[in-house]
Amino acid sequence: MIKKAVLPVAGLGTRFLPASKATPKEMLPIIDKPLVQYAVEEAIKEGINEIIFITSNEKNSIERHFKKNKKIETRLIRSGKNNFVEKLNPKIFENVTFKYVIQKSQKGLGDAVLQAEKYIKNESFVVLLPDDLFISKKTCLNQIISLNKKTDSTVIGLNKVDKAKIHKYGVIKPGIVKNKIIQISDMVEKPLIKNAPSDIAILGRYVFTPSIFKYLKKVKRDSSNEIQLTNAIKLQIEHEEVFGCIYNGQKFDCGSKEGFVHATIALALKDKTMNRKIKKIIRDII
Ligand code: UTP
Repeated sequence: MIKKAVLPVAGLGTRFLPASKATPKEMLPIIDKPLVQYAVEEAIKEGINEIIFITSNEKNSIERHFKKNKKIETRLIRSGKNNFVEKLNPKIFENVTFKYVIQKSQKGLGDAVLQAEKYIKNESFVVLLPDDLFISKKTCLNQIISLNKKTDSTVIGLNKVDKAKIHKYGVIKPGIVKNKIIQISDMVEKPLIKNAPSDIAILGRYVFTPSIFKYLKKVKRDSSNEIQLTNAIKLQIEHEEVFGCIYNGQKFDCGSKEGFVHATIALALKDKTMNRKIKKIIRDII
């Protein structure tokens, strides 16, 4: 059973400046919860009990956020605000170990994942990019872990995208497709429309077999001086079967401002305590 999750959060968050200057992008809230907590909760729901953040020196508020805060808890109880204690110190965090590894310089997502090797060693693990937020009955992670149980291979969450936006994503070349299981025969990072091998893009949820570390070490830096995770997966495909499945549910790209606002509106409309007011606000604006 997969027990460890890697969450790369060391990126600069340029698209969210100036908000991301003193507050990590991952700590910006969708309603009342930091973006990163949605990914952490998704991982815990699937039985993960060790979360390894790949972080940077400027982002220690993430560490503070996942640590139990006894002081504020006592204050809340003293002032009769007991119903906020669960929000402050969620019970589901109690049986989870949070670890933090500093990525010294932002050399790309591949380099970030490689930093987790010392805590993973020789077992399969998952990677969650907190920028991608999902709303679905079965979590995105659940959908790819189920496929990993069947195949014992690396599995990547996928979704179909509008060809006009294909240049923003890692894109797969599908091989054999059987019972909605797609064998991945190749992939390209951010292709031009004319070079895209399909309209199927990679999502920010992965299950990796541990050999990925071996391939990450072989990958050379690209033209922007980054070690791309996609290039390590390409090497893995040459030696092992790698699969993907099309995610069933809603997805928000909270790494972009439009996606972040979209997720905020969608979650506000899903919230029974706000739903009617938000609908009215939207109607009034329009
Ligand atoms: P992005 O490419 O979205 O970069 O990284 P970013 O820095 O978060 O945002 P922008 O593009 O500057 O606005 C995808 C994921 O990989 C992590 C990021 O934190 C994010 O979760 N990452 C990226 C690292 O941890 N280290 C890196 O060197 C690069």
